[in-house]
Amino acid sequence: MALNLVMLGPPGAGKGTQAKTLAAARGIPHISTGEMLREAVAAGTDIGLRAKAVMEKGQLVSDEIIVGVVRERLAKADARGGFLLDGFPRTVPQANGLDAILARFGLTLDRVVAIEVSEETVISRNTGRWVCPKDGTVYQVKTAPPKRAGLCDLDGTPLVQRPDDQEPQIRQRLREYHQKTDPLKDHYRGKGLLLEVDGSQAADQVYASIVSALRSAAGGR
Ligand code: AP5
Repeated sequence: MALNLVMLGPPGAGKGTQAKTLAAARGIPHISTGEMLREAVAAGTDIGLRAKAVMEKGQLVSDEIIVGVVRERLAKADARGGFLLDGFPRTVPQANGLDAILARFGLTLDRVVAIEVSEETVISRNTGRWVCPKDGTVYQVKTAPPKRAGLCDLDGTPLVQRPDDQEPQIRQRLREYHQKTDPLKDHYRGKGLLLEVDGSQAADQVYASIVSALRSAAGGR
């Protein structure tokens, strides 16, 4: 059965980690707006050029740009069999934009999974995150370190840190989250779609909690 999901959570909550595994298990596309924007920045597209400075400061890209990016992505055929949106929507106008996009395709959202973690966890996970610039593999110095320090396990490429993973930028991303994204929990709770999961556990336990919450919400199926 097609599953149309949104994953919410503060920076470093583990949205990307969980979304990747869940989307693969369900055979649905994992659509990360952060990843799409980083690809646009790397490719130097018009959207990338407009987004770069905003992202590096830890602020949100405009609703207009991001809703356009998601509209284009959800129009692709692979999204007709379900999708997992990671990091979108992040504002109430984006949630309304998503409703309009889904209505156009005759779709609805099935569930919104919110991953909850403390502020200390956010700082510790993001400052310790290293990424392979070649294949995008994500490491964490404490919880998921590479086998050889500073090098990707898959191809030996030197790992890099995201420009927005310095502490001042992480704190700015948290401020944006509290001001603009947190209200979405009430928005989706009111629609009966919200499932809240404790993200402070180890990644495999968080995954088990998400699967169990989805199963309970579907009446045990
Ligand atoms: P985006 O890339 O979406 O960043 P984010 O929301 O800040 O989320 P992160 O990618 O930092 O964290 P995550 O929750 O995915 O955690 P991860 O699994 O990687 O967006 C970047 C920027 O793009 C935004 O700031 C904004 O400028 C722009 N943007 C994107 N979408 C937008 C939108 N809709 N509107 C406007 N602007 C938008 O995990 C983090 C680390 O912790 C990793 O090292 C991982 O290995 C580790 N880890 C994960 N889970 C666990 C665990 N359970 N235990 C221990 N370690 C763990």
